[in-house]
Amino acid sequence: MERVYIFDTTLRDGEQAPGFSMTTEEKLQMAFQLARLGVDVIEAGFSAASKGDFEAVNLIAREVKGPTICSLARAVERDIELAGQALAPAERKRIHTFIATSEIHMKYKLRMSPQDVLERARKAVEFAKRFAEEVEFSCEDATRSQRDFLYKVIETAIEAGARVINIPDTVGYTVPEEFANLIESIKNSVPNIDKAILSVHCHDDLGMAVANSLMAVRHGARQVECTINGIGERAGNASLEEIVMALKVRKDFFGGLYTGINTKELYRTSRLLCRITGSFVQPNKAVVGDNAFAHESGIHQHGVLANPLTYEIMSPEDVGFPSTRIVLGKHSGRHALKSKLNEMGFDVSEEDLERVFERFKALADKKKEVYEEDIEALVYEECVKHEQEEPIKVLHYQVQTGDKLLPTATVVLTFRAEEKTATATGNGPVDAVIKAIQKALNIEPELLDFSIKALTPNTDAQAESRLVVELEGVRASGRGVDVDIIRASVSGFVDALNRALLRKSYILSKENLRREGTV
Ligand code: KIV
Ligand code: ZN
Repeated sequence: MERVYIFDTTLRDGEQAPGFSMTTEEKLQMAFQLARLGVDVIEAGFSAASKGDFEAVNLIAREVKGPTICSLARAVERDIELAGQALAPAERKRIHTFIATSEIHMKYKLRMSPQDVLERARKAVEFAKRFAEEVEFSCEDATRSQRDFLYKVIETAIEAGARVINIPDTVGYTVPEEFANLIESIKNSVPNIDKAILSVHCHDDLGMAVANSLMAVRHGARQVECTINGIGERAGNASLEEIVMALKVRKDFFGGLYTGINTKELYRTSRLLCRITGSFVQPNKAVVGDNAFAHESGIHQHGVLANPLTYEIMSPEDVGFPSTRIVLGKHSGRHALKSKLNEMGFDVSEEDLERVFERFKALADKKKEVYEEDIEALVYEECVKHEQEEPIKVLHYQVQTGDKLLPTATVVLTFRAEEKTATATGNGPVDAVIKAIQKALNIEPELLDFSIKALTPNTDAQAESRLVVELEGVRASGRGVDVDIIRASVSGFVDALNRALLRKSYILSKENLRREGTV
C-alpha cells in the first residue's frame, strides 16, 4: 500500500481564475477547511504576486496546523525570498519554484536559451533551500517540452536539492496514454529520480485533467496537484474530489494506493468554496454536484431501495452528503446550535456564536425546520462575509407591487460611506429594486446570469439567489440567502457588485505593483 500525496492548489491556481478571487480572511477559512479535509500540502498563494498574496500566505502559515504550507515562486531570487519570508512561521513549509522548459515558452516568453534555463533552475532550487528544507521544482509546460532537455532539467533540480519534481500539463494538452508514457520515461531516464517524489499538475482544457492525473499515478506519480471543484486557470485544474474518490472507489484497479483525505469532508469543502467565491458547481458534477446521488428513474429507485450498490458505486455518506437534512428547530438552544456547528466542522468564537444564534432564532421563527444548508449560509454571512469591508451597504429598501400596480422600488444605501437614495420602476419587484440600486450607484453593470431557488422544501424555505455581473470588464458572482426572495435578490446583487469592486481594486493594486517592478 503506497500513499498518494494530495497537494491542494485551490488558493493559488484556483484563485487565479476569473471570478474566484478571495480575500485574506476567506483564504484562511478555506485553508482551515482544507486542513480538516486532510490535504497533505496547501499551496496558499504566490507570495511575490502582490501584498495581498504575501499576507494570505503568511497568515495561513501562522494559523493553519497540519498540512505543509507552500508558496509558489518563479525561479528568481526575489520571488523565492518573499516566499521564504511569508512561510517563515509555518510548522512545515515548502517553496515551489518553477521555470518553463518548452521551446515555445523559452523562446517567446522567457527569451532564454535552454542552457540558461538549466542554470536558472539549479540556482533557484539551491537558493530556495536556504529558506525551506522542502523544495518542489516544476518544469512549466512539461508536456510540450523536448524530452531529453526535460530529463536534464529534472536531474539538475534534484542534484540541487529538490525533493518533489512536478510535471505540469500547463495548457491541458496531453492525453492519458501519452502522459503515462511521459511519466514512465522520466522514471526510466532520469538517473537520480528515486531521490524525489514525482508529482503531476494537470489542466482541463480538453476535459482530461483527472484522467491524465490518474494515469500518471498508475505509472508512478505519488503526488497529485488539484483543486476543490476543479477550479483553476481557464478550464480549471484536476478536481480533488474526483481524484480522491476514484482512488478510493477503484482501489482494486490502482493497486491499493491510498490518500490521507477524510472523504466525509468533501461535500462540505466544495460547498464552502462555492459560498466564499459566490460560484456554484453544475448539478451533474461528479462527487459533489446536487444530482450526484439523485435517482430519478423508477427502475433506479427500485434498485437502490433493494440494495444501494445496484446503482451507487459510493454512498452519499462517504463524501459527506447530508442525509437527514432537518437539523434544528425554533426550540433549539445555543448549546444545540454550537454542537451542530462543531459537528459541521465550524469552529466559531463565542462572539460569532452569539451573532449566528440571533440570526438562527430569527430564521427559526420564520420557518419551522432549519437545515444544514441554512446554517451554513448563516455562518458564512456572519463569520466570513462579515469580516470584509464592503464598498456598498444597503440600509433599507421598499418595494410596492401587485397585479394592478407598476412595481416600484426605493433604495437607501451607502457607497464607500456616502449615503445615496433612488427610486425606479421595473417589470417586476426584483427588476425594480435592482434598477433602483443601479440608479443610486450610477453604474450599469451587465447582469450575465441570475437565478433564484429554494434551498430546502416548502414555501417558507430560504431562497438563494445567484448572480453573475460584469462591471467595467471585471466579472464577479454573488449570492444572497433569505426567506424573502426580494431580499435574497438584493443581497445577491450587492454581493456580486461588492466582489467586482473589491476585485477591481485588487487587480489595480497588482497592476501598480507590476508597474513599480515589484512583481
Ligand atoms: O500550470 C502550471 O504550469 C502551473 C505551474 C506554476 C505549476 O500552475
Ligand atoms: Zn497550473
